[in-house]
Amino acid sequence: MQLLDGKKIATEIKAEISAEVAAMKAAGHRAPHLVAILVGNDGASETYVNSKARNCAEVGFESTVLRYDNDISEAFLLDKITEINNDPDIDGLIVQLPLPPHISVTKVVETIDYRKDVDGFHPVNIGRMNKNLPCYISATPNGIMMLLQRYQIETAGMHCVVIGRSNIVGSPMSILMALNAEPGNCTVTLCHSKTPDIRKFTRDADILIVAIGKKNFLTADMVKEGAIVVDVGMNREVSDKTKNGFKLYGDVDFDEVSKKAAWITPVPGGVGLMTIVSLLKNTLAAAKKEYYG
Ligand code: GUN
Repeated sequence: MQLLDGKKIATEIKAEISAEVAAMKAAGHRAPHLVAILVGNDGASETYVNSKARNCAEVGFESTVLRYDNDISEAFLLDKITEINNDPDIDGLIVQLPLPPHISVTKVVETIDYRKDVDGFHPVNIGRMNKNLPCYISATPNGIMMLLQRYQIETAGMHCVVIGRSNIVGSPMSILMALNAEPGNCTVTLCHSKTPDIRKFTRDADILIVAIGKKNFLTADMVKEGAIVVDVGMNREVSDKTKNGFKLYGDVDFDEVSKKAAWITPVPGGVGLMTIVSLLKNTLAAAKKEYYG
């Protein structure tokens, strides 16, 4: 078994981004600026947004976190988004999900200017991703693609099984792995909650990408010898053994599955760190107006 080491690759890519930001600033440009909106006080969202802001600072970006109470109106949030869309000093905007139930995620996502949509959730970006055109790609799937690329994993012709069809991870992941690109060129099966006998598919998979949100869902008996296993799980459990009071568990039973896998991502230290780096990459691209004028 070899580790797909998200920590190592994320550190490398962050150094590359830092160097590029330093060069931009030396040439007289302002730093890339990301705004994150956080509504309510979901503990996991708070952790993710703080981590995004910390990582922005580490590579020399400016970041602003706008925190609002759970009971703000949808109209207020949409107005705020429009204000940010029109602010030339802001390059990228993310609204952390989930949102409270009285606010429409679709309206929020479609109000964000697709040119600042560094989360890659806007239909323009999703459509362009489907057509293999330059665009912002959702951070977690893009982070996984970068990880496979940096380890020079040949994926063409492989059977890739994605478990979970969320808009944020599973759905875009399945599209990316099927594109005529490298990594990509896979035969893709997208399994979800209504798939009968998921094991039938997982046992045939050359690449398994698990984003189902259930601790230790993927067990060794579900995996083919020599498979490449990517664990997207971020299952938080209260723990008195860690500094922040939580312990993270993946969707994959790492101890057992790693005995069969050729390559595997750990949790923590795998996909999570790549997700943040991917957001930084998108924000840098936004500041450079790489995809849209
Ligand atoms: N909630 C969980 N993952 C994400 C993400 O990648 N972006 C946003 N905006 N919210 C999330």
